[in-house]
Amino acid sequence: MKVTVGEAVELIKEGNVVAFPTETVYGLGADVYNVNAVKKSFDIKGRPSDNPLIVHISNLDQLKNLTDHLPEHALKLADHFWPGPLTLVLNKSKEVPDIVTGGLSTVAIRMPNHKMALDLINQTCPLTAPSANRSGKPSPTRPEHIISDYADSLPYIDGGVSEVGLESTVLDLTGKPTILRPGLITDKMIADVLQESVKSHKHQKNGPLKSPGTKYTHYKPLAAIHWLEAMPQNPTPEHYYILNSENKITSAENIYSYEGDFRLLARNLYDHFRDADFKGCTDIFIENIPKNLSHPAASALVNRINKAIGA
Ligand code: TXA
Ligand code: MG
Repeated sequence: MKVTVGEAVELIKEGNVVAFPTETVYGLGADVYNVNAVKKSFDIKGRPSDNPLIVHISNLDQLKNLTDHLPEHALKLADHFWPGPLTLVLNKSKEVPDIVTGGLSTVAIRMPNHKMALDLINQTCPLTAPSANRSGKPSPTRPEHIISDYADSLPYIDGGVSEVGLESTVLDLTGKPTILRPGLITDKMIADVLQESVKSHKHQKNGPLKSPGTKYTHYKPLAAIHWLEAMPQNPTPEHYYILNSENKITSAENIYSYEGDFRLLARNLYDHFRDADFKGCTDIFIENIPKNLSHPAASALVNRINKAIGA
């Protein structure tokens, strides 16, 4: 059910959850300090309780209450990239309820670059916001995706199409700067600002998980996803193709080309996943993204596609 920012403010203050647009994907917002409201957001999504949430802020003053220790690095990055698609993992203060962080001693924080999101937070308080999809589904990047997941039972603010289309970069700053989830702000961009190298978190075998979200299935439509190994000779209507350039196949029904524009692919990836399901396609084939591609969206795209494949 579509609501205005003003109506969303009232709903949040009453302890309800509201989906709202950000530049990355739509989030499911709840008052970070209201344990019942945050619990509702886990229940509505069907999200496991040990998968922590990102807290969304609209100004730097709000950080004081969320973390006891603000490293110099965090301020530098906030100054450079906020508002924007970068989430910082910091030590959490006692003020942040344990339900928000899934019991971790750290809290993830970002300032979204979207006017409606900032207006909403300005008029309420910092908001927890997981991506607003049902758990395991592709993140919503348009209001129609929210309606499709919740049959219009969930209040949402209509902010149109999300500009970025993939979730924020998650960077752990509690030790050596480490990327837990790649996004459009890359390790290189962060290293340039910090003047320090940045690690990428690979598969972790032992100890408590640094990024608990990584162990769950993510971003999955019903259709099976594959990297396209070879151009098909006889494409069928049940197959959905996402290609770099269209002229490679001419005879299939569901061919979508991004013409080498990787930002466009990032923006539309989850819409393609959902569109393939809507059209009843059984398989989605995605043309390989060159291994040495230096485009900022490359590692986030490969990461999300591999996760959706289940690799
Ligand atoms: O772009 C985004 O980040 C979107 C929009 C709505 O802001 N939000 C989003 O939230 O993608 P979610 O809940 O779908 O993903 C949050 C990720 C999960 O992988 C979670 O495990 C990780 O951030 N995370 C949250 N708090 C953490 C913490 N304290 N330590 C490590 N990882 C954390
Ligand atoms: Mg998510």
